[in-house]
This record gives sequence, structure tokens and C-alpha cells, in this order.
Amino acid sequence: MTAPRRTVLVLGGTGEGYALAEALQDHPRWRCLSSLAGRTRSPRLPAGDSRSGGFGGPEGLAAFLRTEGIAAVIDATHPFARRMGWNAAAACTEQGLPLLRLDRPAWQAGPEDRWHEVTDWDQAVAVLRRLRTGRAFLALGRQEVAAFTPLTTCHFVIRAVDLPDPPPTFAAAEWILARGPFSQAEEEALLRHHGIEAVVCKNSGGPMDGKLAAARRLGIPVVMLQRPARPQTARAATVAEALTWLEAAG
Ligand SMILES: NC(=O)c1ccc[n+]([C@@H]2O[C@H](COP(=O)([O-])OP(=O)(O)OC[C@H]3O[C@@H](n4cnc5c(N)ncnc54)[C@H](OP(=O)(O)O)[C@@H]3O)[C@@H](O)[C@H]2O)c1
Repeated sequence: MTAPRRTVLVLGGTGEGYALAEALQDHPRWRCLSSLAGRTRSPRLPAGDSRSGGFGGPEGLAAFLRTEGIAAVIDATHPFARRMGWNAAAACTEQGLPLLRLDRPAWQAGPEDRWHEVTDWDQAVAVLRRLRTGRAFLALGRQEVAAFTPLTTCHFVIRAVDLPDPPPTFAAAEWILARGPFSQAEEEALLRHHGIEAVVCKNSGGPMDGKLAAARRLGIPVVMLQRPARPQTARAATVAEALTWLEAAG
């Protein structure tokens, strides 16, 4: 007789979360239950079982883990999701469950990079002021660019997939509507064409990024938003590593 499959809760909504759910389909020992935050109106559904919406803080999550008979949790939320990882750590500690953090490694500055690492956008504005930046390239989420409107001495070139509605009011800004990825050559051409003196972006991590390579080549400073702090947990950088961890967990 085969043993019943145990359930792993995957806190997803990211590329890694979808890929893990896909990889766990038909797994002989683990059933995957994906959880989405429920912010998107018609989200793409992960492979296998899924549920949607907040749990009600760490206590709500602990109760969910208990009532659903969850045997392990994998936190595959976005690197800039601030709360869920901490909630998962607290709930798993309370329930005595193994927890893994799955995320792509952050980008690291090399010796030729001129990075200014910041922990919020106010610090990023302060760095641009200090550098007396006349023209900055913002490669951020469209909801985040409003933080830069107080800097009236800088001309912003802002790249986004869509315009925010309503668009924030800048003293001087132009929008480029485009969806990546962009090659180093394309990014170099853009930075040169617009006379960019500083690039502002988030440390999303993953494969080497075209704009970072272009900024390095042109000697342009990068104002880099660091990832928020995460609890100390086991970590995996790839879906394959997460599967190996699951094998050991049960
Ligand atoms: N922040 C970003 O830049 C970003 C970018 C792309 C995608 N996302 C995704 O969007 C979601 C929300 O982002 P956020 O920045 O608001 O995260 P967050 O600060 O970590 O989470 C805020 C609250 O949203 C609920 N939540 C988050 N992820 C959930 C999940 N996978 N399943 C069920 N509930 C979840 C939890 O509510 P309760 O306390 O009620 O349980 C959590 O306390 C995350 O899943 C994240 O991966 C975020």
C-alpha cells in the first residue's frame, strides 16, 4: 500500500511559485497547495490545488496549517514582499513545521559598479540630491515612482509597462512604455540617448540585468533598493534545490 501524499503549502504568486507547483504535479509523496495573495482580478492559476487571500496574520496562518494538515511550507513570495515571510516563520515555529525560502539570488555589485544601496525611496531621493543628478532613469514599479516627485531639480526618464492612473506630477519627466527584458546594447543606447546620469532600480535579482551591465560599462551610478530583511530559514535558489529540500523533509 502506498503512503498518502503529504501537503506542502507554497506561498506563491511569483514565477518561482508557479514553476514549483508545476514541478510538484504528480509527485509521488507531496501534494502542492499554492496560496495567492488575491490582489489580481483574474490571476493565472498555478498547477495543482490553490487557494487565494490573506490568512489573517501569523495566527490565522498557524490555524490554517493545523486545520489543513500541512506538513511543510515553502515561501516563494516576491523578494520585495515584506510581511509574508515573517508570518510564515512565526506560524511554522508555532506548529513545528519545516519552512524553506525559495528566491532568486540578489544581484551583487562588482568592483566596477558604482552602486548606492538604499533601504527606501526617500533615501534614494537623498542620494540623487547628493549626487546633484540632473537626469535620472527610473526602472521601478509604476506605483513607486511618485516618491521622486519632490525632486524638482532632476529630469526623470521613467520606464513602465503602463502609465499610472492618475500619473504623478513631476517637474520634468518623460515616460517610456515598454516591457522587458532589455539587452545590454538596448539599455546602453537608452542611457546614452537620454543623457542619463543615474539609474534607480530594485534588487530583483536573477540573471545579470541589461541596465546594470550598461550602467557599469558607461560608469553611471546605480541607486539600488535593497531587499527587505527576511527571517533566518533554510534557503533554495532554484526549484530543483527546493525539490531536494522537500525530499529530505519527508
Ligand atoms: N511587493 C512586491 O514588489 C511584489 C511584486 C510582485 C508580486 N508580489 C506578490 O504579491 C503578494 C502581495 O505582496 P505584498 O508586498 O503585499 O506582500 P507582503 O507584505 O509580504 O504581504 C502582505 C499580506 O498579504 C497577504 N499575503 C501575501 N502573500 C500571500 C500569499 N502568497 N498567500 C496569501 N496571502 C498572502 C498576507 O496577509 P495575511 O496577513 O492576512 O495572511 C500578508 O500579511 C505576494 O504574494 C507577493 O509575492 C509582490
